[in-house]
Amino acid sequence: MDGVKQSPKGGEDMMRKTLGLLILAFPLVSYAYGPHEALDCLACHDPHYAKAYKIFKVKNEVYPNPRTGKPIDGISALCLGCHNLEKFGGANVRPIFLHMTHPVNIKPNPKIAQVPKKLLRDGILQCVSCHDPHPSNPNWKYLRVDTKGGSQVGRFCALCHPAKADLKFYGLRSKKDLKVFTSMNEAIGPVSLSLNDPNLTIQNPTPNYVRAFGDFKNSLAPAYTYVPLEPWIYNPDPKRLPPELRKLIEASKKPKTKKKK
Ligand code: HEC
Ligand code: HEC
Ligand code: HEC
Ligand code: HEC
Repeated sequence: MDGVKQSPKGGEDMMRKTLGLLILAFPLVSYAYGPHEALDCLACHDPHYAKAYKIFKVKNEVYPNPRTGKPIDGISALCLGCHNLEKFGGANVRPIFLHMTHPVNIKPNPKIAQVPKKLLRDGILQCVSCHDPHPSNPNWKYLRVDTKGGSQVGRFCALCHPAKADLKFYGLRSKKDLKVFTSMNEAIGPVSLSLNDPNLTIQNPTPNYVRAFGDFKNSLAPAYTYVPLEPWIYNPDPKRLPPELRKLIEASKKPKTKKKK
């Protein structure tokens, strides 16, 4: 009787082992490349139909930050253009929910977190303080710190909460041993560098020269599949234009004789 009972159990064990192997093999594959590869630059950046800063293609300033009550802005608003539910202004892509998320878009209380200044934007914690989303980032979940495939997440948390982490457990003498990934210095390529390395560039400020004429739905589809169908491209609603542009258009419409009066 025992033998009969054991044989299906043995089969189950085999199944479990195979599944275990599959589960082990899968993250090994995703070390090599993450899901942002498939976006092929153009799902995040759009050279001709951009909505925001750094020719970003999607944006979401709809959902308020539960910590501040204000809409999320800055770079975080770009990530949330995809990573939120459609009804909250995102594109339904692996949505995260701000009311269940680690504080973001806040000014840190230095007793709660010692955030390296370089990782803040105008003193504010953003998604990119923790993640570098470029496909060249080999780290688990595009985190700034290598967590050995998610098995040593404490190394990452130690970046800002070193008083809470047992650094020795992770083989670190101090927080200074941590390396931070960046893709933002083309002069040296994608690298992980110490916090005090002068080559560690997290941000290159440029003028915010992209001003959308209006808004269109966030989508992973190429912009040309829907943007030219929007009437505002050819016949923009003047109320939706940036004031500088509205003035320019209005000035160009005025007959020159009027000016001379
Ligand atoms: C998941 C979205 C995403 C994808 C995919 C992506 N980027 Fe970016 N990229 C960003 C964000 C966000 C920024 C702004 C980062 C910042 O200012 O911190 C940025 C900034 C840039 C910049 C400006 C760099 C600077 O120094 O200011 C360049 C250039 C760029 N990306 C090129 C690319 C190229 C080329 C690809 C494809 C290989 C790509 N990006 C794919 C999100 C993305
Ligand atoms: C154009 C849409 C788009 C934008 C913008 C975008 N992402 Fe993503 N992201 C994706 C897609 C697609 C996936 C894969 C979703 C899935 O597998 O279900 C993904 C997955 C992720 C993952 C999980 C990676 C993994 O290995 O499981 C992280 C982390 C992430 N994104 C962070 C960010 C951050 C931070 C930003 C902003 C700097 C950002 N994303 C902007 C589309 C986007
Ligand atoms: C304090 C650091 C921190 C900040 C700030 C942060 N993240 Fe993350 N994020 C993480 C960590 C750690 C993980 C991996 C653990 C997990 O999946 O929960 C992660 C995972 C993710 C994932 C993958 C979730 C999944 O299902 O695997 C997405 C998408 C993501 N973050 C997007 C964002 C966006 C968008 C923002 C800004 C609104 C943001 N993150 C801000 C630390 C952060
Ligand atoms: C880039 C810096 C950074 C990283 C990395 C980071 N945190 Fe934080 N953390 C902060 C900031 C900033 C705050 C908010 C401080 C405040 O409220 O002023 C915070 C707050 C917290 C809080 C308190 C939340 C609350 O509601 O009061 C917890 C818990 C926390 N972090 C845990 C973690 C864990 C766990 C990790 C690793 C997965 C992590 N943090 C990674 C910066 C960071």
